[in-house]
Amino acid sequence: MSQTNIESMLDEKRVFEPPFARRDNAHVRSMEQYRELCSRADEDPEGFWAERAVKLLDWFRPFDSVLDADMQQADIRWFSGGRLNVAYNCIDRHLTRGRRNKAAIIWQGEPEEDVRVYTYQMLHDEVCRFAAVLRSLGVKKGDRVSLYMPMIPELAFAMLACTRIGAVHSVVFAGFSAVSLQNRIQDCEAKVLVTADAVLRAGRRIPLKNNVDEALRQCPSVEKCIVVRRAGVDIPMEAGRDLWWDELAADPELDAVCPCEEMESEDPLFILYTSGSTGRPKGVVHTTGGYLTYAAHTTQWVFDLQDDDVYWCTADAGWITGHSYIVYGPLALGGTSLMFEGVPTWPSPDRFWHIVQKFRVNIFYTAPTVVRSLMREGVEWTQKHDLSSLRVLGSVGEPINPEAWMWYHNYIGGGKLPIVDTWWQTETGGIMISALPYATPLKPGSATFPLPGIDAAVVDAEGNAVEANQGGYLVVRRPWPGMLRGVYGDPERFRQTYFERFAGMYESGDGARVDEDGYIWVMGRLDDVINVSGHRMGTAEVESALVAHPAVAEAAVVGMPHAVKGESIYAYVTLAADEDESEELRAELRTWVRKEIGPIATPEVIQFADGLPKTRSGKIMRRILRKIASGETSEFGDTSTLSDPGVITDLIDGRLELT
Ligand code: WT7
Repeated sequence: MSQTNIESMLDEKRVFEPPFARRDNAHVRSMEQYRELCSRADEDPEGFWAERAVKLLDWFRPFDSVLDADMQQADIRWFSGGRLNVAYNCIDRHLTRGRRNKAAIIWQGEPEEDVRVYTYQMLHDEVCRFAAVLRSLGVKKGDRVSLYMPMIPELAFAMLACTRIGAVHSVVFAGFSAVSLQNRIQDCEAKVLVTADAVLRAGRRIPLKNNVDEALRQCPSVEKCIVVRRAGVDIPMEAGRDLWWDELAADPELDAVCPCEEMESEDPLFILYTSGSTGRPKGVVHTTGGYLTYAAHTTQWVFDLQDDDVYWCTADAGWITGHSYIVYGPLALGGTSLMFEGVPTWPSPDRFWHIVQKFRVNIFYTAPTVVRSLMREGVEWTQKHDLSSLRVLGSVGEPINPEAWMWYHNYIGGGKLPIVDTWWQTETGGIMISALPYATPLKPGSATFPLPGIDAAVVDAEGNAVEANQGGYLVVRRPWPGMLRGVYGDPERFRQTYFERFAGMYESGDGARVDEDGYIWVMGRLDDVINVSGHRMGTAEVESALVAHPAVAEAAVVGMPHAVKGESIYAYVTLAADEDESEELRAELRTWVRKEIGPIATPEVIQFADGLPKTRSGKIMRRILRKIASGETSEFGDTSTLSDPGVITDLIDGRLELT
């Protein structure tokens, strides 16, 4: 976050008071009730969470203890002794409680006519069949299964099928490259990979299976690769390894019942890779009982999900948002979750609003980057559609700037709907700081208050709460059920990354301030992580991709403010001695990074630089690079530790030549 953004937030004084439209059956109806819930949770956190876990989920065996945790030792266990199954909770139990014929998943494919609706009974049958397929291929409890798939119903089926048999899924966003996929498969040693022939995107077919073939060249753990026919493109199938989903699922010998595995509360549920400031992406591990309790709990309170709602989260299931708020939260509650395969702007910029009207969507959850990009297309696109079914709007991924907030509120919310700006992370499993739609007075750009039971605070370097309007580290001082339980295969990295800096607290890596009314304003990452369109990109990953190119000697990457994406990637590249700067090389490097990591990591700007600003000990001073990238040419602060202050003027000259 640049300083200017922080300032503009400071100026934001508007307050929007509920009730936007009173709702007597809302899960949390007033600020008074919110405060009561907070006091109850603070006085007896274990009682509070035990009550939620019992109320929201069905347990095969009740838990013996609620919480056993030592944050300092990075040892956290929720609901020990309890046994449950996620697929059972998300599907089976609803069949006997009047929801057998209710829509569980409404799927809108990218082509308008491609719509599939799965009732809970149909979902049950699909998931059982695929779970039986996995079992027949030798997948057992605890085995890892990687999923590299488009936004098609089979992705949700595969996730739920894994949970049914106790396999641990690791979804890899289909926008990632072969190399990224390979790293993620290798790290968790997946036994099976599920994918599709190709992805449909903005009217084009983007091959997927060929990335898989490239990735699997060096993934000895993968025994079978299951392929969904989505786009109908011709692809090579490797005999003995590659199998078609539809052929496997049609096997008459399959056991159509496929009983649920009884899982321990702390058995791993899934691994999801996320970027950190250094090194390889971290495999964030979530476990069964706590994660599901938290996903269901937050879906119910934050979105006020009711039984007859159509709920739509526009995220891709390849990110945590899709895990918790397309699949697990809504389905655990027996809700109707809409899943969309396409993009917001194709075939026209009103695709989202068209879908809202088509299915009478009540709850709509998206990212600020989407709001900004649709805002640019003009309000006329919103006015073509009846958006009156909407009741709650949500935002996630980065701070929503007040301009985008007002547009969202006025043109999508008709000037009357609440916006829940939800702060959380892959690691937190679910929403941590957010307004409650029928309780909280809103301030545009603030995520407002921690949810009941969440002890979030802004602290100084010593871990003491800072005064109002002082910036500091955003931490959580008490465990919560949805928190990550580990970094796959690396307990030490887990402890160091999250629990070392502040004794007994979880460190989020974000900066924030609390205003005079107690509202939390998240300022963004404090580490070298860039937030592009609401997704974390590690600078180290992009740098190592650049340096892997033979023409590159050295690279430094920083975030630069971007009107639509929030931040975009600005790369400084020092070429190898015998290489010449050229536009061709610049284009080649951008393609290279796309290929190494994926389109989301493509540098917006590449500046060739003869030298980078380094301290005498050789550390790159990113602070300076960030300033230059955002167009500042003075006030670089203390530069006395630079080994060669002359590089700064060269870098500024280089930037001026670029623009
Ligand atoms: C980082 C987490 C959580 C799902 C999406 C991204 C930023 C997220 C907000 C918000 C301000 C936000 C933070 C956080 N972030 N939501 N409402 N206001 N910042 O998950 O990739 O793990 O990224 O996204 O910087 O640390 P993620």
